[in-house]
Amino acid sequence: MPQGVRVRVSPPAQILLHLMLIQEFISKEISAEVNEVSFSWESPSNIALVKYWGKNLDQTPKNPSISFTLSDCKTTTSVLFKKIKNTSKIIDFELFFEGERNISFRTKIEKFFSSIVGYCPFLLNYHLTISSSNSFPHSSGIASSASAMSALSLCIMSLEKELTLIDDEFFYKKASFISRIGSGSACRSIYGGINFWGTHSDFSFGSDLYSTQISKSISSKFHNYRDAILIIDEGKKEVSSSVGHELMNDNPFSQIRFKLAKNNISKLMKILESGNLNEFCNLVESEALMLHSLMMSSTPSYVLMKPATLSVINLIREFRKDSNIPVCFTLDAGANVHILFPENFSQEVINFIKKKLSVFCVKQKYILDFIGTGPKQI
Ligand code: DP6
Repeated sequence: MPQGVRVRVSPPAQILLHLMLIQEFISKEISAEVNEVSFSWESPSNIALVKYWGKNLDQTPKNPSISFTLSDCKTTTSVLFKKIKNTSKIIDFELFFEGERNISFRTKIEKFFSSIVGYCPFLLNYHLTISSSNSFPHSSGIASSASAMSALSLCIMSLEKELTLIDDEFFYKKASFISRIGSGSACRSIYGGINFWGTHSDFSFGSDLYSTQISKSISSKFHNYRDAILIIDEGKKEVSSSVGHELMNDNPFSQIRFKLAKNNISKLMKILESGNLNEFCNLVESEALMLHSLMMSSTPSYVLMKPATLSVINLIREFRKDSNIPVCFTLDAGANVHILFPENFSQEVINFIKKKLSVFCVKQKYILDFIGTGPKQI
């Protein structure tokens, strides 16, 4: 090898993303001169009802998913873009998280940038100062990659909009597209309300590359639906989502899971239209438990629930039966419990959480949130 030649060895997924650039999303010709500009976006987290679990090398999902976009659990990100002369093929950036220079997220952002540079080559002409903070406590165990990646992608798209001619529809579609490359579930945070990501025979508009808001005929029972997040475990996730997705490649139940997820999408769509909240509770809880059963049946296997998670689940089911209030739980790939309920039962459910469930939470902590309207530029 000639001296001085640097060889960068990329993991297979990145090679694939580089090789298969999708024409539609490569930025158009630059039509404006921008030397220095700053954009800020706040973008929410989302909670999946039908879970995305298992992905392909090009960061597309093995099955479609549907989520509620949250409101108050969000990341605020500002990016200052300053024009530079950059002859390398690497995007130049510095990163601050909650006011402090951050190195722990750097590798993830570097990987993200190297995967999107083909779609946003204009980024090479800038130095990026990224400053980010979360509305929820850093160590609350809440997955922040969806809100963080979507907020950063929206700032990048704001620069693209300044430099090239794009309309709003494309702005959000590409924001969802590049968010997905950063973290799959992040693509569902770009729009408010209820989001669909993936391909499915019931959704002619669906795509594995970005998410779409489901606006048609949703029952009013889901308007302002609430999500109370019980902080059962504040620690770092025992297993990252990326590793969890990978475990699905060899999970003995993966094929049946992908089929069931597709069926659950059809069922959930009917429920969202009819407003049958009992069926909603059954389906959402079954999805959450299936996600955890997949982790338990992978090799290596993981038990991500804590004893308190199970206690809370049992109490929620008991409360639902005794009160007839359609409250249910869902879970991410961790121990925390999301409690979903209609707004008109807020008082009863919040009282129940305070009295019976908060004792299972770290420092009695829980976060009250609801379905939100999506990201905002600030
Ligand atoms: C359990 O989006 O965090 O929350 O694409 O590797 O970043 P990556 O994974 P991520 O996976 C989320 C998994 C989940 C279910 C869901 O949100 O659909």
